[in-house]
Amino acid sequence: MTTSLTPDTNHLRQICGLPTELALRKAASFLAHLVKDPDFLESRILPFLEEARYGEDWYVAHRHDAEDGSFSLQVFVWPPGTGTTIHDHSSWGAYCCAIGSVLEERYERLDAGSRPDRARLRKAWQLSWSGEDGASTVMPGDKGIHRVGNPGEGTAISVHLYGPQIGEVDGRDYDPGRDYVCDRREGIK
Ligand SMILES: [Fe+2]
Repeated sequence: MTTSLTPDTNHLRQICGLPTELALRKAASFLAHLVKDPDFLESRILPFLEEARYGEDWYVAHRHDAEDGSFSLQVFVWPPGTGTTIHDHSSWGAYCCAIGSVLEERYERLDAGSRPDRARLRKAWQLSWSGEDGASTVMPGDKGIHRVGNPGEGTAISVHLYGPQIGEVDGRDYDPGRDYVCDRREGIK
């Protein structure tokens, strides 16, 4: 579904045109306000709460992609016990919970990246993020390797903003069990 998700597309496009670190600060602030906006909550978040009870996996319930590729704003629904695999993104990203909380595990690379299909990871930290905690941000590529999930008993809903994609792939997926990494063409955040 791609309809008008956002109240101010120009503001988003402006944020996403900034240098990465500044864009991330502005994106975090934008999202922290957006998830408290009563109109946004009522129209874009609460309708998914009921539907989410029947979900068996996490999913993107709503998505707005800028026509020029400068940003993508997405609403993620996390039924209890769901989560992503370990991945990174070909863009910067920021997300903030509107309902409930998610657990984020962040990883760093130990190898020099000399082999395209090999990556040795070490868990750097994990944090639980609720709306009160503000937004979490990731840099593009292996500066933002993470896994996000909802280990709790209630549904979580988060709002994500991604900047312009660098390169052709959406990001990469990691399997630390065999020190493996591969490109991801599309789909997972
Ligand atoms: Fe992600």
